[in-house]
Amino acid sequence: MSTIESILKESRIFPPSTNFVQQANVSGLEAYQSLCNQAETDYQAFWAEQAKAHIHWHKPFTQTLDDSNPPFFKWFNDGELNISYNCLDRHLAHQPDKVAIIFESDEGEVIHATFRDLHQRVCKLANALKAKGLKKGDCVVIYMPMRIEAVVAMQACARIGAIHSVVFGGFSSKSLHERIINAGAKAIITADEQVRGGKHHALKATVDEAINKGGTETVKTVIVYQRSGSTKVPFEPPRDVWWHEITQKASSECEPEWVTAEHPLFTLYTSGSTGKPKGVQHSSAGYLLGTMISMQWVFDYKPSDIFWCTADVGWITGHSYVAYGPLAVGATQVIFEGVPTFPHAGRFWEIIDKHQVTTFYTAPTAIRSLIKLGADLPEKYNLSSLRLLGSVGEPINPEAWMWFYEKVGHSRCPIVDTWWQTETGSHMIAPIPGAVSLIPGSCTLPLPGIVAAVVDETGQDVENGKGGFLVIKKPFPSQIRTLWNDPERFKKAYFPEDIGKGKYYLAGDSAYRDEQGYFWIMGRTDDVLNVSGHRLGTMEIESALVANPLVAEAAVIGKPHDIKGEAIVAFVVLKGDYPQGDDKTRITTELRNWVAQEIGPIAKPEEIRFGENLPKTRSGKIMRRLLRALAKGEEITQDISTLENPAIMDQLKQTN
Ligand code: PRX
Repeated sequence: MSTIESILKESRIFPPSTNFVQQANVSGLEAYQSLCNQAETDYQAFWAEQAKAHIHWHKPFTQTLDDSNPPFFKWFNDGELNISYNCLDRHLAHQPDKVAIIFESDEGEVIHATFRDLHQRVCKLANALKAKGLKKGDCVVIYMPMRIEAVVAMQACARIGAIHSVVFGGFSSKSLHERIINAGAKAIITADEQVRGGKHHALKATVDEAINKGGTETVKTVIVYQRSGSTKVPFEPPRDVWWHEITQKASSECEPEWVTAEHPLFTLYTSGSTGKPKGVQHSSAGYLLGTMISMQWVFDYKPSDIFWCTADVGWITGHSYVAYGPLAVGATQVIFEGVPTFPHAGRFWEIIDKHQVTTFYTAPTAIRSLIKLGADLPEKYNLSSLRLLGSVGEPINPEAWMWFYEKVGHSRCPIVDTWWQTETGSHMIAPIPGAVSLIPGSCTLPLPGIVAAVVDETGQDVENGKGGFLVIKKPFPSQIRTLWNDPERFKKAYFPEDIGKGKYYLAGDSAYRDEQGYFWIMGRTDDVLNVSGHRLGTMEIESALVANPLVAEAAVIGKPHDIKGEAIVAFVVLKGDYPQGDDKTRITTELRNWVAQEIGPIAKPEEIRFGENLPKTRSGKIMRRLLRALAKGEEITQDISTLENPAIMDQLKQTN
C-alpha cells in the first residue's frame, strides 16, 4: 500500500515516450497546461466548449452552469439530448458495421456485435419496455450477468428516459431488496443465471426472493434473459416475461426520448459511513461528457483501438467505461463474462492476445493476484497489440505498477492510474499519457477543469508534503447530483460545513501532494473499506452481523492484505458464552456465510475474533484504533488503563 514512507522512497519517473507524444490526443505537457489554463481563465466557457464538441444535442443549451442552489448544481440545463442516441445512432451514418462489442463468454464463445446490431437490439428492448408501460422517469433495476445484454438493458432504459439502477450480480437478495425498495423500481431486468469461472449462480431465483420479502408492489414486470437455460427458473406470468419473447416481435426502430440535460440517467448504490447504502444519482449530459472526455484525454482513444475495461457493469467503472464512454466515442470494446483465473491464470493475457486489445484497464487487486498466480505467464502470450494500460479502484503499490509496466506493457505502454469514484462519474485525477510523466503509485495530476486540492479540517490548503482531505473545489459536469430520495444526506456527506464551508466536494479520501504537486491517495477517511477494489461500509457489515440471532455486538475494521488491498476483520461478542473449540469454528463459518447471505460474498469477513466484550472508552465508544492494531498484530503501546474493560484486550488478541 502507498504509505507516505513508500512514497518518499519512490523516485522512478517515466516521461512519455516521443512515439506516444507524437500520436497523442493531448500531445505534450504544454497542451495539457493550455487546457488547464483555458479552464482557469473562463471555467464555464471551457466546459461549454467541451460539451458542444463531444455531445450530440437535440436542442442546444444556452446556459452552462446553474449554481444558484448549491450544492445542487445544474449543467447545460436547457439543452436536450438522448444518451442512447449519442452512443449508437450517431455512429450509424459513418460506421454502422464497425464492431462495437467483442464479447467473450465464460466458456470462451465469442460474439461480435456491430453498432447496427447493438442499435437494433437496444431499440427492440426499448420498444418492449414501452409496451410494458414503462416511460420516462420510471426506475428499472438491472441485475444481470456481464454480457452484451447488460449493456443493451442499460441503453434501452436510457433510450426511453427510464432511470436504471444496476445491482451487481454478486449482491444477495437482501441487498437487492433494499435497492428495489429505495429506487421504487417499476421493472427488473435479470437473467436465469450467471456463469463465472464455470460456476452457475441463480439470478432470477434471487430476484424472486427479493420481491417476496415484501414492500415491492411497485414492480410490475420482470424481464428474464435466458443466459443458459440449464435450470428451470421460477416463472410467474404475467409479471415475468422472457426477454427473447418480448423482443422478438418488437420493432427495431425506436424514436429516442429527448430529455433535458439534468434528467437522471441512473442511480447506483454505493457504501458510505452508515449502514444504509447511498443511491448516487447521475445526470444525463454532464455524466456523458465526463466519460467522453476521459476516453479522449486519459485513454487517448483512437478509432483503431480495441478497448478493454475488465470491470463489471454493476460498478461505476463498468457504467462509465463499458456501458457509456466507449460506445459514445464509437470504440470497439471487449466485454468478458468470466474471471481472470478460469480456466487458467493466463485468461486475461490470452484475451488480449486473441482480440488484439490496445487499451487494457483493470484493478490493482487483479494485477496482484495474477502476479501471484504466474508472474511470468504474460510472456507466453503476444501482448504487442497493447499501447496503453490503466488502473482503477484502489492505490496501486509501486511493485505491482512496475510488474504491470514491464511484464504486460513491455516498458512501452504508459499506465494511467485513475483516481475517481462512483460519485464523480468519470476520471478526476489521472495522467494524460502523452503529456504527464508517470510515477509508480501516484495518480499524478487533476484533469483540466478539475480543481482538486488537499485541505485540513478547516478547509485550508495544506502545503505539499502534508496529508489532508482530498476535495474538489469547483463543481464539474459529471459529479453526483444528489442521493436518491435523500438530498439532506447528500449535502451533509459531500459538502460539509466545517471543511470548505459547504462549497467543496469532500471525496472521503485522504491524500498528499509531493513537491511537484503530484497526488498520492492514502485511503479513506471514513468508515469505508476497499476490499479488492470494492467499496464496503464497516457499518453495513456490522449491521449484518448483529442481525444474526447469535450476535450481541460487532465491530468491523480493515487490515492490510497483500492481494485484496484490505481484508475484513470482525470482532464479535456473542449473546451466549464465549465460544471454544469446534463451536468456535462452526460459529465462525456460520457468521461468514450469514454475511454473504445478507450482503453478498464480497462482504464475507476474512477473519472473525470473539471476545466477551469490545474495548470501549468509559463513555461506551468502541476503540477501533485498538482493534486495528490488534488485527495487524501490532504491539499495543498506548495506555489502555482508561478503557472501561482493559482485560478484554488479551482475549481479543487470540486469533484462534
Ligand atoms: O478510496 C478511493 C478508491 O476507491 C474509492 C471509490 O470507490 P468507488 O466509488 O467504488 O469507485 C471505484 C472506481 C472508480 C475512492 O474514494 N480509489 C479509486 N481509484 C483509486 C482509488 N484509490 C487510489 N488510487 C486510485 N486510482
